[in-house]
Amino acid sequence: MDYKKYITVVEDWPKQGIKFKDITTLMDDGKAFKSAVDEIVEFSKEKDIDLVVGPEARGFIIGCPVSYALEVGFAPVRKEGKLPREVIKVEYGLEYGKNVLTIHKDAIKPGQRVLITDDLLATGGTIEATIQLVEQLGGIVVGCAFLVELTYLNGREKLDGYNVLTLTEY
Ligand code: PRP
Repeated sequence: MDYKKYITVVEDWPKQGIKFKDITTLMDDGKAFKSAVDEIVEFSKEKDIDLVVGPEARGFIIGCPVSYALEVGFAPVRKEGKLPREVIKVEYGLEYGKNVLTIHKDAIKPGQRVLITDDLLATGGTIEATIQLVEQLGGIVVGCAFLVELTYLNGREKLDGYNVLTLTEY
């Protein structure tokens, strides 16, 4: 499917010079959203996945239907101060700004095979931080799946050695 037909490019948002890739118009279309989720589920089969992990907020939107289809759990990675129990944290740089990501310490059991999902791979800072959180807890990252990749920001360089799926590129 040509997902670009469903993604809206918003000029100068949230800052001047950024061409924001708005996936809400893709989610709004039942067939396009299902197709995207189905492709990620297909990529995930044969990988013996135990758990899906996704970073706030759009990683939840992609990850939860995938975890439901795979009949495995979903563990949220959230910005600092959002998770109520003991967490581990990692600081990372964004395409615009800086952030801290956290995960509950007991969210992953050592040896669990993890799929990470997000809407977008840009600089790769978010996925790199999410991988660090998963691996610090003893999880094995067996795949990373995104709807969109901004190839000009070279996020892939941070994913050397990992199995990566992106459904469309800019
Ligand atoms: C966006 C996007 C990815 C990340 C990609 O999330 O949803 O998670 O940035 O950028 P990177 O590859 O340069 O790290 P954002 O941090 O804006 O959070 P949100 O989904 O909560 O708005």
